[in-house]
Amino acid sequence: MDAREMKIKAAEAALTHVESGMRLGIGTGSTAEEFVRLLAEKVAGGFKVEGVPTSERTARLCVELGVPLKSLDELPALDLTIDGADEVDGALRLIKGGGGALLREKIVAAASQRMIVIADESKLVDTLGAYALPIEVNPFGLVSTRMAIEKVAARLGLSGELSLRQSGDGEFTTDGGHHIIDASFGRIPDAEALSSELNSIPGVVEHGLFINMAALAIIAGPAGARTLQANR
Ligand code: 5RP
Repeated sequence: MDAREMKIKAAEAALTHVESGMRLGIGTGSTAEEFVRLLAEKVAGGFKVEGVPTSERTARLCVELGVPLKSLDELPALDLTIDGADEVDGALRLIKGGGGALLREKIVAAASQRMIVIADESKLVDTLGAYALPIEVNPFGLVSTRMAIEKVAARLGLSGELSLRQSGDGEFTTDGGHHIIDASFGRIPDAEALSSELNSIPGVVEHGLFINMAALAIIAGPAGARTLQANR
């Protein structure tokens, strides 16, 4: 089974948690897109959902495939969000934002009664941090913000390169008009401490640590999909 087939398996399993009539947060990335494709087939067969997309990219795919969309302001309270992740640990702490959509993803997940994460087994880790942590920053005062992130990291015993994400023609810009600093810490033993320290830096708009947000992770491997439940 290749990586795409595993993503499809995880997406299929997630779809069993979606009921007709639900208000659904729809994630971003290649795994979430497999979910959108499967959801679109059900919608074409008469299944009723209203989706709130977590990025312009996901919105475009939903429109193309006929999944009905609303804005979060139109549907401010959602039943369920299904989204991918860059890393998942055993306590269902996540690193997200590889696709640059972490801010909307976090807002949408926080507005949802439940969040289910879907991933192939390569995303499951013992300790978060091998994947560079995306930190969304305001373009204003970028150098100061970067220095503040370095300080916080040093205080927590973390080190590693902080690199401003680039796209083809310059700095990568998020749907919200911000930039992303990818922090290659290697290991983040205390994700809670890092999360609250980053939240205290004014130029940090959000970061990709999702803690106490996912209720369930559906992890697909060659033998099929298994479910990890949050212990809360
Ligand atoms: C986008 C995300 C994605 O969910 C994450 O990057 C995983 O993507 P993929 O399913 O393509 O591996 O957080 O901001």
